[in-house]
Amino acid sequence: MIDIHCHLLWGIDDGPKTLDESVQVCSMLKSRGVNRVIATPHYIVGSTYQTNAASVTHITQQLNEVLLQKVPEFEIMPGMEVFITPDIIDLIKSNEILTLNGTRYILIETSLNNISTYMEDIFYKLQLEGYIPIFAHPERNRKINMDFKLIERLISNGVLIQVNYDSLMGRYGKDVKKFTEILLKKGLVHFIATDTHCVSERFKGTGELSKILLELIGNENTEKIININPSRILENREVEKIIPAIEKKFFLKKLLKL
Ligand SMILES: [Fe+2]
Repeated sequence: MIDIHCHLLWGIDDGPKTLDESVQVCSMLKSRGVNRVIATPHYIVGSTYQTNAASVTHITQQLNEVLLQKVPEFEIMPGMEVFITPDIIDLIKSNEILTLNGTRYILIETSLNNISTYMEDIFYKLQLEGYIPIFAHPERNRKINMDFKLIERLISNGVLIQVNYDSLMGRYGKDVKKFTEILLKKGLVHFIATDTHCVSERFKGTGELSKILLELIGNENTEKIININPSRILENREVEKIIPAIEKKFFLKKLLKL
């Protein structure tokens, strides 16, 4: 599995505090089936999490060097989880913030309590500049809860959707779990990521995740969500469309009647 949303760089946000803790997180992820990760430390303008592209790139390189010995065959690429701000285009152009692995894909988070009035405008402007916004864990936003119309509109306007493993497992409550499951079944999810911040017992591994996804959305979509689409990001290629699991069943029934 390729994890496109993960906080594993030390001393930069609310992830690991030391290099040793970073290595432990990498070791845990590898033992649970993840072999490539895009490091996405928070970038929040005006907060203590206002890091910068140069330091994220530097720490990523340092960690990769240590991992060659300590956690071989595990690779980290630089990125950020950017908190939505009206200045986002200028920040990209001034090399203040990073896209995912230097590609056109950018991971964007919003407040969990409201929907900013300029969110859709920013998503649109990013695309005018050639970037593809990936909305990080919208299922956790209390205002969006169960607003499938909004998610459908965002996707039809070119935004991609990433949900969290923990949301699917019910860590944020039954409503978020239900919302995540329906989003997946409706084909409204392009990526699932761990959003790991520390060594955790909660992430059981890709085996368990695949099993749950297989039952919900079938083999083809599972493969797209956890492997194919993340690898498309790394290659800066277009992601695969997700076919709604509900539509697929209907199509199969129709086919069998024929
Ligand atoms: Fe995150």
